[in-house]
Amino acid sequence: MTPDSAIETARGWLRAASRAAALTGAGISAESGIPTFRGAGGLWRNYRAEDLATPEAFARDPKTVWEWYDWRRGLIRDAKPNLGHYALAQLERRMGDRFVLITQNVDGLHNRAGSERVLKLHGDIWWTLCTACGDVRSDFRVPLPELPPRCAACGGLLRPGVVWFGEPLPARTWEQAEEAARTCDVLLVAGTSAVVYPAASLAPLARRHGARIIEINTEVTPLSGEADLCLKGPSGEILPQIIES
Ligand code: OAD
Repeated sequence: MTPDSAIETARGWLRAASRAAALTGAGISAESGIPTFRGAGGLWRNYRAEDLATPEAFARDPKTVWEWYDWRRGLIRDAKPNLGHYALAQLERRMGDRFVLITQNVDGLHNRAGSERVLKLHGDIWWTLCTACGDVRSDFRVPLPELPPRCAACGGLLRPGVVWFGEPLPARTWEQAEEAARTCDVLLVAGTSAVVYPAASLAPLARRHGARIIEINTEVTPLSGEADLCLKGPSGEILPQIIES
């Protein structure tokens, strides 16, 4: 349970910040009914990442990989943004370009809640990328009519437009995320286990450059000891309290 005084402190830091940033992970979408990766009921408890979220797995068996993504696309399509997503969209409206939202999530719920500028470190589950001609486009059809899907431009094999284990993050997006971490006064870290790199390096980077780190999580993480404030609880309850409308 988070005491009111901690909420008040977070609110004050955010109000006083010239620049702020937020890093979100799967936990922010948990209250929308989308499974996380590592917690109870997490996807990596029931599926092996090596079989589904690596370039090697896709090269071996693109159909199985696509079936798993098609299933997740269905879950995500049926979900709605929650109050945590809406609070961060509100913070963007309030602070404009003095606020940067960085997410590891591929579900697009931040956009659906109204956030317009989202740095998607791990891509987007609604994007497809042609392995032959590089064409990138959005495809919101669920289920996809053909698995694995083919490129409308060249007929090549499409892959999900997400970052898999062992792949680099999109370079420009990562540069912008590092820049936001280096220049913010406050970094909110919500709903991430803080174990997947390089995303997990953003909070230590921000801290080295003088930012205050506010963690919002239902559990303790490896970041908790480094954070200036840990607000324990669901992000859908805590974020609306610290981001006043
Ligand atoms: P994880 O599943 O690793 O962690 C989710 C975090 O959210 C945990 O620390 C939970 O305690 C917390 N949590 C759960 N429900 C919450 C709630 N209602 N409010 C606040 N916190 C809550 O997800 P990520 O940290 O996002 O990468 O995982 C990082 C990356 O690992 C993902 O982007 C994905 C995954 O493998 C790739 O697929 C490349």
